[in-house]
Formats: sequence, C-alpha cells, structure tokens
Amino acid sequence: MCGIVGAIAQRNVAKILLEGLSRLEYRGYDSSGVAINNEVGVRAHRAVGKVQALKDKFEATPLDGKIGIAHTRWATHGKPTENNAHPHFSGDDLAIVHNGIIENHDKLRNQLKTQGYVFKSETDTEVIVHLIHQELQSEPDFLQAVKNALKYLEGAFAIAVTLNDQNHRLVAARKGSPLVVGIGIEENFVASDQLALLHVTDQFVFLEEGDVVEVTRDGVTIFDSQDVIQERPVHVFNHNVDATDKGEFRHYMMKEIYEQPKVIAACLEGRISENKVLTDCFGADSSFLKNVENVHIVACGTSYHAGMVAKYWIEDLANLPCTVEVASEYRYRKVAVPKNTLFLTLSQSGETADTLAALRKAKELDYLTSLAICNVPSSTLVRESALTLLTNAGAEIGVASTKAFTTQLTALLITAIAIASEKGALSAIKEAELVNSMHSLPAHIDEALKQDVAIKKVSERFANKHNALFLGRGPMFPIALEGALKLKEISYIHAEAYPAGELKHGPLALVDEDMPIISIVPHNSMLDKLKSNLQEVAARGGELYVFADKDAELQNAEGVIFTEVLKVDEILEPIVHVVPLQLLSYHVAVVKGTDVDQPRNLAKSVTVE
Ligand code: M6R
Repeated sequence: MCGIVGAIAQRNVAKILLEGLSRLEYRGYDSSGVAINNEVGVRAHRAVGKVQALKDKFEATPLDGKIGIAHTRWATHGKPTENNAHPHFSGDDLAIVHNGIIENHDKLRNQLKTQGYVFKSETDTEVIVHLIHQELQSEPDFLQAVKNALKYLEGAFAIAVTLNDQNHRLVAARKGSPLVVGIGIEENFVASDQLALLHVTDQFVFLEEGDVVEVTRDGVTIFDSQDVIQERPVHVFNHNVDATDKGEFRHYMMKEIYEQPKVIAACLEGRISENKVLTDCFGADSSFLKNVENVHIVACGTSYHAGMVAKYWIEDLANLPCTVEVASEYRYRKVAVPKNTLFLTLSQSGETADTLAALRKAKELDYLTSLAICNVPSSTLVRESALTLLTNAGAEIGVASTKAFTTQLTALLITAIAIASEKGALSAIKEAELVNSMHSLPAHIDEALKQDVAIKKVSERFANKHNALFLGRGPMFPIALEGALKLKEISYIHAEAYPAGELKHGPLALVDEDMPIISIVPHNSMLDKLKSNLQEVAARGGELYVFADKDAELQNAEGVIFTEVLKVDEILEPIVHVVPLQLLSYHVAVVKGTDVDQPRNLAKSVTVE
C-alpha cells in the first residue's frame, strides 16, 4: 500500500528519500515520486513502476535540497500513471504526498473547480493540496493553513506537505493511516513505516489519531486532535538485525519462511513454563480468561485463516463457542453479542483498515474485553486494544505472510490453552502434555524445512498450471485455504480450497487430468475419511499431490505424487504442515518468474478499505 517519507536536514535529502522509498517497496506500489524543496522552488520527479526508475531519473537530472517528501503509490483513484503519481502540487511551491482515501473528494473537487483550480490528476489527493493552497490565500501561516484544510476532509489519511517559504519546515498529519516521526541529530523525518527511516535513525515518535506535526531541523511539535501541543514518548527501534537485509536469501519470503523456528521460539519465550501457559503474558489483568464464555475472532486474509484454525482449538480444548469473521463483513453488519464474549483481533501489521474499524465498532458494543494478537508493538491495533499478545515475528517484508502466520497460530494456541486451563476445561496433566509439545515446535519446523529440496522438485510440475484445488479436513481445512491463498498471491495460479467432504457437492465437476489437487493428510483422526475423498479424485483422473506423514501409509502411485511430512502431535499439525505449502507456493512462483516479494496489485499493509 502507499508509503510516505519526508525529511528535513542540513544535508541533501534526495538520497535519504530514495533509500526510504526502496525500504517501503515491500508494501506494494505501482509508481513513486519525490519532491525536493530548495531555493528555486519545489521540484519533483515521478516514475511508473519500480523505485529504480525514479532513481534513474535522479541520476539523469539530479535534484538537490534540504527538505523533501517522497511517496510510493498503490493506485486507488486513477490508474498507475506518472500524472497520478505523488507528489501532487498546487502551484509551483506547494506539494503533498498522501496515504489513504478521501471519501468526499468528488464534492471537494467540484467546489475547487468552480473556484478556478485546474486538476492535473485523477487522484483524491490533489483536492487536499488545492484546499491547502486555498487556505493559504487567507491564512499566511502554513501550519495553520494545513490545519484549516484538514477540517474539510472525510476519510482516512496520512499526509506530508512542503511549502517553499521562509520558514523551513514540513507539516504532516494523520487520521486513520499510520505515520511516525523519526528523530535525528539536527535533522528530522516522517514516514508511514519506521522501516523507511532505519538508515537514518532508530528513534521514533508514533503519531496518534488526529495529530498534526510541524517538523523542522531542530525539533518536532505535535498538536493533538484538539489542537493542544503534546509531548509523545520517543521509542528506540530494537530489532537487532535490520529486517530489510535479505541476507543469503534470494527473496524476503524465503528468508522469512526459514526464520520460522527462531521466531516461533521467540513467540513462546516467557509465555510457557515447562508445563503450563504463563497467563501473565496477557498483562497484569488476565481475569478475562476465567470469565470468557464466547470468543469472536475478526481478521482479514491470512490472519483470518489463523483465526479459523483457532476456532477448532478453542472449541476443542476450552469447550467454548468460537466464531470467526472477516473484518470487512463484521464492520458493516448489525451484531448480536452474547454475554461475556471476548473480541479477538488478529493482524500482522496492526494497521489493516477493516480490522481497525471492526475493533472500533466492537468497543462500542458489550464485549467482555478486546484482545489483539499482533506483530507490531507500535501499531494502532495494539494501542487501541485493551489487551495484547505480541507474536514477536520481527518485521515481515514479503507481501505473502509466512512467519507472521505461524507465530499467530502459536500465540492462538497459547491463548486457547490459557482459556481452557483457567476455565477448568483442561486438566493439569493435559495442559502439561500440550505445553510439552509446544516446546518442540521450533525443532519440528526446522525438520519440516528439510523437505525444501523435494518440494522444489514437485513445484516444477506446476509451471504450466492455471488452476489448483486444495483439500483439507478439520483444522487442516483453513491450512488448505492458506495454501491456496499463498499460491494465488505469488504465482497467480487460480487456486481454491475446500473441506474435503464438500468435494462431491460441486467442485468434483472441475476435476480432470489438468487439475492438480493438493492435500495435506496428516495421520490424524480424519485420515480414513480423507483417503476416501482422494479416491474420488483419483477415479476421475485428477492429479493428486499428497503431503502425508509416514503413518498415513500413502505412497507414490499413478497420478499420486507423495511428499512425506513430519509426524507431529495432532494439535501442532496446522502450524507444522503449513510450511510445505509455503515452500510449494514459493518455488512455483520462482518457476513462473513472478515478483515473489511484491506480487502485482497487492500491498503488505492494507490501510484502506
Ligand atoms: O496485517 P494483517 O494481518 O491485518 O493483514 C491481513 C491481510 O491483508 C494479509 O494477511 C494478506 O492476506 C497477506 N498478503 C497474506 O499473505
């Protein structure tokens, strides 16, 4: 999704901004641009496609200056063209970059047109910069003019604005889209994501809803939504390794798949003892664990799939009803809240617009409390939820979520066991057994990764496929959904997933010799039923890719390509057996030559509806 970088320094900021944009590439974008503010005015370069195309323009025609703003655009209003790329201007001296969506842009555009403003792009952003320009006609103070203009806007935004005047400063604001301020030594920055600024600072201030900030070389002044000056804490970025470094790997996605043993261990650390879940991992007040009578999980995409797995665990271990819903649906419907329901959100980024809107709606309703399972400690979701369990996966750069998913599952299993134990639904012996199993998770994932070479070989068979069907049963059904999502996201192969028992109720009609059917068949209680479903496929000439453990007693046969997966305790199967599917989609994408880390049309952090 769109990314913002802004800088004000005593040195030329062009390189800082371009490097910042490169660091934001992982979020997904289709064009980019930089505006540099110097003694001759505000000048910009924009380019469609990769940030490298923008760098080439700077190489050919350098722009130097000590104040600048930059942007990667993910098209919403208007095609990904150079004209629609940010920064947008009003006149020659005022430029803006913007993330989010201005919902009343049509109305504002018409009003501005009647006042003589000429629009050069199809974007909603251009209305903001003309509004600021219009305010400047009666309000000479740039900061105040920006504040005045913001009052007309409906929707979500993070903006950074520069004006070529005597007062050297940047003005930025957020409402509904994230924005951080980076603090340097006699230089300061703004960005939509702290990763964009790690090459220049590790000190960050996170802006809150409705904040407007004036950034100069010497300082930062934050005005809250009531226009009162606020001091906000400075956070020091504490990742030991810069996540934007791919290390020995060709793609971030592969690096992140291989990081899973380490980050799952980090997710477990301090949350489980030798034989029980440590309930204080939910914060000082964990009384909700005893009082909860229902759980409602809300999330999007891969996080939603993690929630679907958790439903099986919560109902099975804690014997409590659990419902799971995509956030974009929840936010717009009338909901009935059963007594003592825990509202649980899942999000890698903690900035997904639909999930945030769902949380805000839930806070108006009669839930027991809200718990966020999230990977980004500084995110809006974490700040706005009553309780938090961090997944500790470290920054995830690849658009296709991998380590964020398995750490979400780990955190969800911790939560399910904690609820079950506190509700008295789980004996101490059973809890000790489960926790014991969890201790071996990192080692199991390490083992699962050893199948990489075998899976790479299998992936070559997908080079010319256009469709695929994933099957699973029980908690492996959401894993099938996740496998299908991974494959379509990065290899652009149309993939669907079904609970295997649904096959004969429709999808069986699709099965022929061209349709690969991928099935994860751990040796669990559903094995015999799943084996019969596979027979139904084989009988119709379908090509079967079976991932099963030794005990499932399956093997290569005509039309059956068998890959052995590790035998693990049933409760851990969803976490361990998603790994072969991640590897499969990765290798298929490499075979097909797609952009693995930044698949077309997708964004890492979906900050608009
Ligand atoms: O940051 P979130 O977990 O809230 O993001 C939700 C989805 O946008 C995300 O999981 C998406 O489906 C991923 N690209 C999946 O790989």
